[in-house]
Amino acid sequence: MAFEVRPTRDLDEFAAALLAIGQYFGMVPTEEAMQRFVDQMGLERMHGAWSNGAVVGGAGAFTFNLSVPGGDLPTAGVTVVGVYPTHRRRGVLRALMRVQLDDAHERGEPLAALWASEETIYGRFGYGLASFCGEISLPREYTTFAHAVDPEGTLRFLERDEVLGVVPPVFERIRTQWPGMFSRNRHWWEKRQVDDPEDRRQGAGPKRWVAYERDGAVEGYAVYRHKAGFEQGTTTAELRVLEALGATPEALRDIWGYLLAIDMLATVSSYLMPPDHPLFLLLATPRRMRYRMGDALWVRLVDVGPALSGRQYSADDSVIFDVVDDFCPWNEGRWKLADGVAERTNDDPDLKLPVQSLGSAFLGGVSFAALSRAGRIEELREGAVRRADALFGWDRHPWCPEIF
Ligand SMILES: CC(C)(COP(=O)(O)OP(=O)(O)OC[C@H]1O[C@@H](n2cnc3c(N)ncnc32)[C@H](O)[C@@H]1OP(=O)(O)O)[C@@H](O)C(=O)NCCC(=O)NCCS
Repeated sequence: MAFEVRPTRDLDEFAAALLAIGQYFGMVPTEEAMQRFVDQMGLERMHGAWSNGAVVGGAGAFTFNLSVPGGDLPTAGVTVVGVYPTHRRRGVLRALMRVQLDDAHERGEPLAALWASEETIYGRFGYGLASFCGEISLPREYTTFAHAVDPEGTLRFLERDEVLGVVPPVFERIRTQWPGMFSRNRHWWEKRQVDDPEDRRQGAGPKRWVAYERDGAVEGYAVYRHKAGFEQGTTTAELRVLEALGATPEALRDIWGYLLAIDMLATVSSYLMPPDHPLFLLLATPRRMRYRMGDALWVRLVDVGPALSGRQYSADDSVIFDVVDDFCPWNEGRWKLADGVAERTNDDPDLKLPVQSLGSAFLGGVSFAALSRAGRIEELREGAVRRADALFGWDRHPWCPEIF
């Protein structure tokens, strides 16, 4: 079946394309909500699929930068992908993905990244599972640290109108250290972070923002909600930590020390926590912290050369990849990565791999050894997997603290 896929041109078209995913979320397309989306994404980054004059699917992309090991790359932040249930399994998604990736390629975005609603969807379009994260839930009585330390800084509440001046600069500092974080422009901060409408609170109270300061400088922050509750005279309250980030290890430790010590709680919970979060090592009884891990970012190398040349590496070595990419054939073939730069080569490859595997390894969150054990790469020269891991490994797991 043929579909016309093109960017939306006005608010009505945008709303119809957004309502494709909206079908599955009970979305009420108010003009205000639609306008907020358009302001953030731009009409031209929402693709719609038309059949017989009606919109039958949509796929959007935010324009932002993603932090990568030692760098920051323009990225298509793929989101709100949906096909109307009347038109499923007829190739609408495939047509949308085709046009969207071609568009990212033309824009010069070396990467596309997304959070997947289902893990089975995006591999076929070249996305590889690049990081993991999990939800935590910790009973308040098991929040003691293994080694008691006095906080080095202080925490103070931020008024709502202070947040925009205080938090974004420290977030940006943190983002440069942590692969996997996307840049937030002012509109994003205002509408997605600071705005706090009732319908996004999920039964909990308003957002509380605290800043962590040391020697007169802001080094971190936390934003959280209280879900109050009492049963039989005892608190059943939950502290929901929406985001807690520190620019230094001390800041992150002290912020969590603060959150875990808040009185009159039964549970502290958070989500999107990376598997190497320091909390696992800070707690005296980490076994008490329930952790449910799942997939986080999926990364697609839209342009292998600029993507590989756009991050830093942990070793002074070279490796030659033979890349298989049937959905974006411009990436196919041999690439030599040497001195941090990837170029075409005719030399014999060290590793043969699908572009999905390169996406998995790109942020340093999945090792080539793990990919090899899963049968997702072919080692053509002995020792190549180990050498590639020495290059791509980073000192921390990628962390994307917000679903986009
Ligand atoms: C997922 C969704 C977008 C697929 O759209 P679609 O138009 O039916 O997909 P297509 O017909 O283009 O299918 C393309 C391929 O993906 C496969 N596929 C599609 N959806 C799939 C799913 N949910 N699970 C597994 N495979 C899926 C198809 O079988 C087809 O495989 P093939 O290439 O081997 O033939 C659509 O079902 C949907 O809107 N689902 C609910 C919302 C959602 O999950 N959106 C994703 C947000 S991240």
